[in-house]
Amino acid sequence: MIAFDAFRKVFGLYVAVDGLTLEVRPGETLALLGPNGSGKTTTLKAAAGLIRPTSGSVRLGAPGRDACLPEARAVVSFLPQRVSFPDTLTGREVVEFYRALRGTAPGRIDDALRFASLNGASNRPVGTYSGGMTQRLGLAVAVLPEAPVLLLDEPTAALDPEGLAAFYAMAEHHAGEGRTVLFTSHQLGDAERLADRFAVLVSGRLAAVLTQGQLHNRLAEHGVMRVRVSPSGPGLLQRVRETAPRARFEGEELVVPGPSDARPAALDAIRAAGGVIVAFTAEEGRLDVLYRALVEEAP
Ligand SMILES: Nc1ncnc2c1ncn2[C@@H]1O[C@H](COP(=O)(O)OP(=O)(O)OP(=O)(O)O)[C@@H](O)[C@H]1O
Ligand SMILES: [Mg+2]
Repeated sequence: MIAFDAFRKVFGLYVAVDGLTLEVRPGETLALLGPNGSGKTTTLKAAAGLIRPTSGSVRLGAPGRDACLPEARAVVSFLPQRVSFPDTLTGREVVEFYRALRGTAPGRIDDALRFASLNGASNRPVGTYSGGMTQRLGLAVAVLPEAPVLLLDEPTAALDPEGLAAFYAMAEHHAGEGRTVLFTSHQLGDAERLADRFAVLVSGRLAAVLTQGQLHNRLAEHGVMRVRVSPSGPGLLQRVRETAPRARFEGEELVVPGPSDARPAALDAIRAAGGVIVAFTAEEGRLDVLYRALVEEAP
């Protein structure tokens, strides 16, 4: 549905995206992950037909059409990373403006405002909106045309828990209707909840394409448990290392790197060595750690 083929975008001397080949399948929700400046927004803008590839191609629909053609743009709705609307218009007027522009039926306005959970504020001027309310309005505008392809650039960055819940409901509704969604996020929770697959960009290059299960496994490898043990003699570490070879002491804490399913055995080993567990915390792998690992693995 969205096909990037050797897509490359250069700004001056700077290569923002370097030879991206990736297909977002019809009905799929794909999360584009990556550190700041890795080329996510550039990729989404190219899919929205807002920037032209320096080389390679970005095509939409089947049969694929160049994303810059008006016919291709008609199937897309795009939420930019930074949305801004005229301050003096009300939220409802903004949605009405875009509705008229896209030729969408008038009945959709209330649905879009409700989806974005903006009903209470929709008659106030946009200039009085908070950051999260402006983002909700952006989402209302993005879902309005019910386009087959949704491109959302950090849709959840400014949302509070209620806004997030509204967004998740909206995204799940769209996925249920078979729409194709390509979105970016720095929030692992969003990505895990919504995406079928994950593409990771690092420094403009596609570093990995992972399924839910693969992402879970990759993150689990980088999980860590920290245990406060009393008393903690030297024999204890040796015993724990039989099940968790990378275990080490950091001050008074026993640090046990590895996936969550390896932790019960490490805790058993501590007790078996006569250690008393005073407290422990566990943390799953973080995205920044995964990005670093992917960079190290890159050829
Ligand atoms: N119009 C432009 N002119 C020059 N450089 C640009 C332009 N747009 C983007 N860049 C550069 O291209 C690189 C990728 O930018 P992009 O906005 O795609 O990153 P991103 O992955 O969306 O980052 P973030 O997570 O911060 O939103 C950055 O180094 C950025 O400075
Ligand atoms: Mg961006």
